[in-house]
Amino acid sequence: RHDQIREGRLSGNRNAFIARYLSSMDADRRIASPDLRVDMAHLAMLKQQGLIPAEHAKLLAGALLRMYTDGIPGEAYDERFEDIHAGIEGELIAEAGIDAGGRLHLARSRNDEVATCLRIRVREDILEILGSVSSLRKILIDLADGHAKTVMPGFTHLQHAQPTTLAHHLLAYEEAFSRDAERLFDTYTRVNRSPLGSAAFASTGFPIDREMTRRLLGFDCILGNSMDAVSGRDFALEVLSALTIMMANASRLCEELILWSSAFVGFVELDDIYCSTSSIMPQKKNPDCAEIMRGHAGTVAGAFQSALICMKGLPMSYNRDLQTLTPHLWNGISHTAASMEILAGMVQTAVFDKEKMYRESERGFSTATELADTLVRDFGLPFRTAHNIVGRAVRSGEITLSTIEEAGKEIAGISLKERGLTEDRIRKALDPTLVVAAKRVAGGPAEEAIVYAIRLRSGLLKKH
Ligand code: ARG
Repeated sequence: RHDQIREGRLSGNRNAFIARYLSSMDADRRIASPDLRVDMAHLAMLKQQGLIPAEHAKLLAGALLRMYTDGIPGEAYDERFEDIHAGIEGELIAEAGIDAGGRLHLARSRNDEVATCLRIRVREDILEILGSVSSLRKILIDLADGHAKTVMPGFTHLQHAQPTTLAHHLLAYEEAFSRDAERLFDTYTRVNRSPLGSAAFASTGFPIDREMTRRLLGFDCILGNSMDAVSGRDFALEVLSALTIMMANASRLCEELILWSSAFVGFVELDDIYCSTSSIMPQKKNPDCAEIMRGHAGTVAGAFQSALICMKGLPMSYNRDLQTLTPHLWNGISHTAASMEILAGMVQTAVFDKEKMYRESERGFSTATELADTLVRDFGLPFRTAHNIVGRAVRSGEITLSTIEEAGKEIAGISLKERGLTEDRIRKALDPTLVVAAKRVAGGPAEEAIVYAIRLRSGLLKKH
């Protein structure tokens, strides 16, 4: 068996080194099965249009079906072939003879063939990733449901800022992942268009039926312009950009799991299966899955960059450079697919330390905003004045009736005590549970708002 494509025009046996340099066989493993489906659809169409004799069509259909059920023989993956398309054609010629096997490539080119295969495979990959993202979102929503009362500190600039709940925090990620899913879902509609029948780029003079192959292969529509159809890879760029954004969100969650599982935060304990130990320090439990995932957010972003840069200087229409884009696409897809699946399990099995979270919510004056709000509400002060009074008390090192009273006199020349401020009112304003309970606005952390959000998010999850 050998690569028959070269035989007419080119001479000599190309050495294995050059052949391997040119071959896309490694990346093509992922489109071997789609290629058989494309072959079958093309064959059925040639037969219907009277472009291939019935006896040859029958032989080819038999050979293709055998490969589909028994698997493609190893020889077809030989790197002496430029790609899997040549490999499978070689196999068909060996099985069905040149008279039948040599007829399948009528009215098509590897250029429309590979573009069709890529879109078929990417379609499947998108659905797999969307499945994992849905599971992750369901896990986040269910966890939130159990933690609507788990008070914890919220952070800005990684400094204790205001108390919130674990449910609020988890739902923040769920909402981000829901947009990632939306983006990928939307991308699917542009991936699912058929280039088949565009041939090398200028279509064909044979009376083919592109609508028939479109239907057989499950595409929504055909790509209109045959030159665009073979040379465009913006569908791949779009997928990679959506995955890059998704992985950036996953990486943020990983970063928090890493931080939270450290001894000096101690909010979470990750399940052992997602962790590793040290070869020298026997006590170590390291959050390796989260770290690898944070790293692979970079891998996927790099794949997107590489693919984008591959495209930006290419003139119409097909250029062989396009082949170098494919491995980046698979790289981005496989790292994202694995990451989303692992992330779902890692979050589901994580054990949160509610007591530690509550204790931390009382630290760092993280309820000071509520006290300022109380001064506005109960004593009619402008917010900025109240903000400065509380800030001055914090600067003194503690918030008590006397430090607030002193700050009130200093900043606004008023006695808050005389106006009715009590130790008890301050204590209430500084209670993290009460602070959270006051945040009933849509999107906030109060229990009512969370219960409403959980109902809303569960409903949306079913739709997307
Ligand atoms: N292996 C090629 C690719 O991945 C298939 C198309 C080859 N076309 C060509 N004219 N050499 O893009």
